[in-house]
Amino acid sequence: MAEQFDAVVIGGGPGGYNAAIRLGQLGLKAACVDKRGRFGGTCLNVGCIPSKALLHASERFHEAEKDFAKIGIKAEVSLDLPAMMKNKDKIVTELTKGIEFLFKKNKVEPIVGEAKIVAPGKVEVKLADGSVKTLETKHIIIATGSEVAPLPGVTIDEERIVSSTGALALKSVPKRLLVVGAGVIGLELGSVWRRLGAEVTVVEFLDRITPGLDGEVCKQFQRILGKQGFSFQLSTKVVGVDTSGKALKVTVEPAAGGAQSVIETDVMLVAIGRRPFTAGLGLAEVGVALDSRGRVVTDGHFKTNVPGIWAIGDCREGVMLAHKAEDEAVACAERIAGRAGHVNYDAIPGVVYTAPEVASVGKTEEELKAAGIAYKVGKFPFTANARAKTIDSTEGFAKILADATTDKVLGCHIIGPEAGNLIAEVALAIEFGASSEDIARTCHAHPTLTEAVRQAAMGVEGWTMQM
Ligand code: FAD
Ligand code: NAI
Repeated sequence: MAEQFDAVVIGGGPGGYNAAIRLGQLGLKAACVDKRGRFGGTCLNVGCIPSKALLHASERFHEAEKDFAKIGIKAEVSLDLPAMMKNKDKIVTELTKGIEFLFKKNKVEPIVGEAKIVAPGKVEVKLADGSVKTLETKHIIIATGSEVAPLPGVTIDEERIVSSTGALALKSVPKRLLVVGAGVIGLELGSVWRRLGAEVTVVEFLDRITPGLDGEVCKQFQRILGKQGFSFQLSTKVVGVDTSGKALKVTVEPAAGGAQSVIETDVMLVAIGRRPFTAGLGLAEVGVALDSRGRVVTDGHFKTNVPGIWAIGDCREGVMLAHKAEDEAVACAERIAGRAGHVNYDAIPGVVYTAPEVASVGKTEEELKAAGIAYKVGKFPFTANARAKTIDSTEGFAKILADATTDKVLGCHIIGPEAGNLIAEVALAIEFGASSEDIARTCHAHPTLTEAVRQAAMGVEGWTMQM
């Protein structure tokens, strides 16, 4: 006899677990199925959380090694990598347990197994013991996330040629690390291993790092990473790897073609993007449409072309970020419960958790120019922010873009200390339709880093005043 549900969520990542919990809160009977064995998806298990734990630990190590003496602290510092990894694993375990607690609290049934949609309203789950459990449900939410995009001709073994998953669990610090792709993963995990002592070379296909970020921020970001010891080979592609010797021999050539050269490295991290994951779900059989990039096609309310089947998170269009998946989860659950869930895609921040951090929300100058929108710019450097001075972190700036006519905030781009926290204020401003003058006239505590954002807003009107 099949178990009956109002909604079955396939995938237990930030999209899936938040959808199931919200459904439970709204009084619907929900199940959340994940094959991984632990809930939390990519984000908690092999993404956001372990990477941030290692970024934090490696930054402390680097500070203790290099910066403590400057502020009058003498310390003998040495690295205990197994302990650092153990701490990261403990954080992941505690957070995944937190999801199990929230499932219990909100009466969500967790099911560990691989789900397949066999018909609208019917899901079969292959359990670990090989048996199959059938679930009948009014609604199905696909939240199966994404997987690493492969580099043609290169086989990931997660030891010497690693994806982000292997790079989060290296057993020793490689002497040399070659990162393929100057995107978010490459620069965050490159930073971890650089701080722990690796020589890091980044090979990027395009002529700039972090495509999609504000151009001015990117230039400064690359300069700062260069000072930290990163070396970049832009407009370059990897064409092959020879794994036969002790060192990997990686052949590269200019992106447009030309003379090849060989880079020797101990570990190579492939970080050229992620692609939606829907394999084995039975989507073709039930007729759920995918686009040319393999993403589940939905309307603005997360409905697929098959009634009763919905999709959220990395497996559908849009940025592949945990908080985007989470917001879609809540909106989709609310729609299923007959409410008016909605996501404002203009107010989704993005953060790169390097040191300094890079954060953005809304439009870039490049996007505004391309759209022909007249805008004003206010900019403020952290060198002139008192708090940044006191914490010895003065690299970078905050930049606010506002509509030239209405002064409505259109975007904000920050490179600097705590940029990821600072951006929240501007995301809220965009959500509320605030003007740059609204931010400029809001009292901000002194001395805080938030004053840099306020000063950038004041700069839009030309009355920046802080030293
Ligand atoms: P996922 O988290 O990928 O979850 C999907 C789940 O579905 C998986 O657990 C999978 O096992 C399960 N599944 C798939 N198919 C089936 C099936 N047939 N049956 C049962 N279960 C199935 N984002 C941020 O916002 N901030 C960050 O700092 C950040 N850092 C990242 C660092 C790294 C190294 C990586 C790789 C990603 C990072 N991301 C970050 C991106 C973030 O992890 C994803 O955007 C987010 O996890 C997407 O959530 P999701 O629920 O759509 O999918
Ligand atoms: P990405 O899309 O951020 O960067 C990939 C980079 O690789 C791009 O610069 C691209 O031009 C380059 N590239 C593509 N093909 C190449 C090739 N053949 N040779 C050399 N370079 C090539 O993807 P990344 O870093 O893998 O991250 C995947 C996803 O995970 C992103 O969408 C990101 O949103 C998410 N993520 C988010 C984080 C955060 O929010 N802090 C942290 C880590 C990941």
